[in-house]
Amino acid sequence: MKQAIVIGLLACGMGLCACTDRVVYKDPSAPVEQRVEDLLRRMTLEEKVMQVTQWTYGKNMNVNNVEQEMKAVSPMIGSLLYRSTSAVFYNQIQRKAMEESRLGIPILCGFDVIHGYRTIFPIPLGQACAWNVDKVGESCRIAARESRLSGVHWTFSPMVDVARDARWGRVSEGYGEDPYLNGVMGAAAVRGYQGDDLSKSDAMAACLKHFVGYAYSEGGRDYHYTDISSQALWETALPPFEMGVKAGAATVMSAFNDISGIPASANRYTMTDILRGKWGFDGFVVSDWGAVEQLKTQGVAADDAEACRKALTAGLDMDMVDDVYRRSLPELIAEGAIAEEVLDEAVRRILRVKFRMGLFEKPYVEELPDTTRYLRPEARAVARELAAESMVLLKNESGVLPVRSEVKRIALMGPMADNWVDLMGSWWGQGEAEDVVTIREGLEAEFAGKTRIDYCAGCDFEGEDRSQFARARALARQSDLVVLCMGEKRGWSGENASRASLALPSIQEEFIREMARTGRPIVVLLSSGRPVDVRGFEGDVDALMAIWQPGTEGGNAAAQLLSGKVNPSGRLAITFPVCAEQQPVYYNRRQSARPRLGRYQNLADEPKYPFGYGLSYTNYAYGKLRVDRTTLQPGERLVAEIEVTNEGSCDGKETVMWFVSDPVASVSRPMRELKHFEKQCIPAGESRLYRFEIDPERDLSFPDATGERHLEKGTFFLEVNGQRVEFELI
Ligand code: NOJ
Repeated sequence: MKQAIVIGLLACGMGLCACTDRVVYKDPSAPVEQRVEDLLRRMTLEEKVMQVTQWTYGKNMNVNNVEQEMKAVSPMIGSLLYRSTSAVFYNQIQRKAMEESRLGIPILCGFDVIHGYRTIFPIPLGQACAWNVDKVGESCRIAARESRLSGVHWTFSPMVDVARDARWGRVSEGYGEDPYLNGVMGAAAVRGYQGDDLSKSDAMAACLKHFVGYAYSEGGRDYHYTDISSQALWETALPPFEMGVKAGAATVMSAFNDISGIPASANRYTMTDILRGKWGFDGFVVSDWGAVEQLKTQGVAADDAEACRKALTAGLDMDMVDDVYRRSLPELIAEGAIAEEVLDEAVRRILRVKFRMGLFEKPYVEELPDTTRYLRPEARAVARELAAESMVLLKNESGVLPVRSEVKRIALMGPMADNWVDLMGSWWGQGEAEDVVTIREGLEAEFAGKTRIDYCAGCDFEGEDRSQFARARALARQSDLVVLCMGEKRGWSGENASRASLALPSIQEEFIREMARTGRPIVVLLSSGRPVDVRGFEGDVDALMAIWQPGTEGGNAAAQLLSGKVNPSGRLAITFPVCAEQQPVYYNRRQSARPRLGRYQNLADEPKYPFGYGLSYTNYAYGKLRVDRTTLQPGERLVAEIEVTNEGSCDGKETVMWFVSDPVASVSRPMRELKHFEKQCIPAGESRLYRFEIDPERDLSFPDATGERHLEKGTFFLEVNGQRVEFELI
């Protein structure tokens, strides 16, 4: 009797109490872990299987179908990936889950909010070029608010795949070629989406993706095999994910790719040993779309059952849309091929996120009008500022920009000039074309009363139609300046959008050259989701600015840069190679055995525009790089400072990038590695001090092929803007 009481008390303490009527999982004051355990022990096998399942209804936007769809949504489903902005719809399905399912477990509603929900910000590659960590965080905060107010709890963002092959269409979705920059921006995005408390009504769960190595797909072909050395995995692919996990990311998405023979979605080493074992991640992993089923195509599973067993036991908790888990798990568990505890662990991780999000207490969303939810002035302001800072001025001969006051007529041409759809880029969330300020609208507003803007498309994105060339030529000749808006359609980058050549279609290059022949100064605004091979026209133009796919406020941002209201401050987060054949070309490569030899006989070695490149309308003078010591020991700090003066006549924002080199180590190191950066506003005529404190453990150590970090004594170099100082770790 005495023993029974003790056991009863213990069980109560752990939330497993069956001796009172208190339903612990429904009690918001109980700790999350107790609520999870309490709920888990009440669940049937079927209910658990439904929790690890995500369904979708494709792109069905027809409001008249809501009732029909509603009937199809199981109230027991763990998650729904659906495209609807209707809070009414989400409340309806949530009501079904809360009221019609036995245990009332809310559905986690996910959607790809990649660079904005209704207010669309620049594509992530553009955001990285802004080097403005706070602004990136703010944009995610706004995206989270707009999403959560619409019933969406979970975004499949940020993507922190370090991407070095511009042929891969998804370079547009990440933060460029550097692991540290991806990590810093990814962590800012996680904090922006999630805020300090996931249960707040303006926070949404983030999802770090694609775990891991997806950007290594062979030849830049999407979904392809990736051959990743253990060294590259640890020093390039994994670090941004680790930074995102440390920032508190609630979820992670397993990638499509096969990592050197073990597909990412069946990879126990990455999903369990590293993510959980080494980093202590306690959220859940969702597969990419159909990635469990694809284990069969990838040649590691003979049938659905084997795919299910491999994925779940490797640590993949939720199955996105292919329904393999739901169809296979009951039998696999019944026959003992998978222990029920493995499923329990996956369910536990999913429930934990739902509890942390406060969904059990607040499953419904307030049904507010669009004007309250979307495109508020502060959202548009952030979209405009981030877009302006993301744009990179690549060329500006004889100071053709900013547009001078003598310019009375601008000829505005090209397929992007009066285009709103492509300006949003791939993954435009719930962005609407009518919300977008086109470049034409932006220029007309910015130059109103000062400069006349004459528009003519002139040419299309591709094809052979030259019928507007003559008109365009005439218009150019009547103008003082020609602004050509060229580039890629939004479908030319993003998922399943690999391109063998980085050049624009020949019609666009020909059109630019034709306009240049008029003798008028030519400015090209280049909109793309990747670096472009500019050989076909760059020599013919006076100014070139990469504007990426800048989103809702893109037209205003571009116009403010052209007028000089905003000084360009974007810097490349990814190298512009001369052409696709020059790849791989990225700044942090390793030294060749014979540095001056081994180059292509028929192609330059230097990229067209390197990582970190970008011009401004002002001049920044860098003072001498100072360090407070030239030797340091582990545990000590080396403080480096540099003063930057804005010597021009307009205010500007300057990003200082700090690189470290380690010329001799037990594992060879990249020639330079970005370790820190900072962007500051420097008013004209003023100076600002930039500072970097080297922490040896953080900044000078490196991982080996097993992930173990080494801090080795010896000579290092610190480099800023071409200045280098040597120091010793003793
Ligand atoms: C496939 C993409 O690879 C992934 O990034 C996205 O989040 C999912 N589909 C869901 O749409």
